[in-house]
Amino acid sequence: MTAKLGVAEFMQAFPLVCAEPANLHYLDNAATTQKPEVVIDAMTDCYRKTYGPVHRGLYPLAEAASDLYEQARETVAAFIGADTPREIIFTRSATESINLVARGWASHQLGPAKAAWVSRLEHHSNYLPWQAVCNEQGARLGIIELQADGALDLNACESLFSDETGLIAISLVSNVTGSIQPVADLIKRAHRHGIVVLVDACQAAGHIELDVAQLDCDFLVMSGHKLYGPTGIGVLYGRTALLEQTDPLLLGGGMVDWVGERHSQWSGLPAKLEAGSPNLAGAVGLAAAIRFLNEFELKDLHAHSQGLANAAIDRLQRLPGVSVYSSALSREGTGIVSFNIDGVHPHDLGQIAGEEGVAIRAGHHCCQPLMQHFNVAATARASFAPYNTLDDVEALVGAVERARMMFA
Ligand SMILES: Cc1ncc(COP(=O)(O)O)c(C=O)c1O
Repeated sequence: MTAKLGVAEFMQAFPLVCAEPANLHYLDNAATTQKPEVVIDAMTDCYRKTYGPVHRGLYPLAEAASDLYEQARETVAAFIGADTPREIIFTRSATESINLVARGWASHQLGPAKAAWVSRLEHHSNYLPWQAVCNEQGARLGIIELQADGALDLNACESLFSDETGLIAISLVSNVTGSIQPVADLIKRAHRHGIVVLVDACQAAGHIELDVAQLDCDFLVMSGHKLYGPTGIGVLYGRTALLEQTDPLLLGGGMVDWVGERHSQWSGLPAKLEAGSPNLAGAVGLAAAIRFLNEFELKDLHAHSQGLANAAIDRLQRLPGVSVYSSALSREGTGIVSFNIDGVHPHDLGQIAGEEGVAIRAGHHCCQPLMQHFNVAATARASFAPYNTLDDVEALVGAVERARMMFA
């Protein structure tokens, strides 16, 4: 077995982060991550050397392109421990993956007698599709509320673990606080009642090990661009039996075996759920990102990002008028810190920080239900990756201090 690489090698791999002079403090990694050279090269190589139509040609270049695409599916399947690559559906994004399950599966599995549950900390992408399907089906949308510290209040949801619940859609890691939810435990309890569980792993992938067999989840979604891969490629994992029950959202080329005048016969998995010309370079880039990550110990990368987040929390909490949200859970999370400064709008902080080269996010983070829990309209958010350093923490704290002086 070859020795794993360390954090120092990780930092060197990202051209935009390593660019000289070093005047970028990129702390918006929960929104999207920077790309390592190997991902950029793999995508360029694909376009230069192996680009052709996927599953649509019988000549060697088309066959090579199809092989590359299917190898990418195998890489993703191995990364998350899926039983077979047929359980991996390539989509445009995690958002599309969730909508595919909501529209293609839940819309004919739920009904007025069934409930779907989400938590209060879900990203809008894992909230709105369920709200819409429940409204259309006359099904109840239950919300798992949070305790004061931001932890899920599972015991306060009386009918959550009951035969009335058809589905629970829950994120493994919050995109606002980085807190890790006890999803494995939730799944065990849910399965005693035959409840299907979808895990939104967007903020977990690349930070903590993902193993769908160990988690025992029914569906899992993630986005390529949040784990050092390209935008425009997302993943839906589903158990074979559930994907077989899932209707395609898109109808068209590549997903059908036989077309008649009135009726047609869909192909098997995974083609049935991937209508249209596949995103070859996107899948290749995602596979390259996963191979890159596999060269490291995820727990070392995670410890580094989390160490920086904890240093930021320590420094921010010492400043008067700064509140860090769910700070205890955030300290145990994946490197995301959400905070506010009394008297300073997060957008103003975002702009001042931006002028100093500190890239943070300010807003509701597509998480308005969670903002309601915190009783704010918006927060500032710094999210760390393994290529960040203590210099980035210093730059963030410096920007916060200047904003305080200007506004507070
Ligand atoms: C937890 C979570 N779920 C879903 C999404 C949606 O991902 P995408 O915009 O890549 O579809 C995001 C994006 O920020 C997220 O953080």
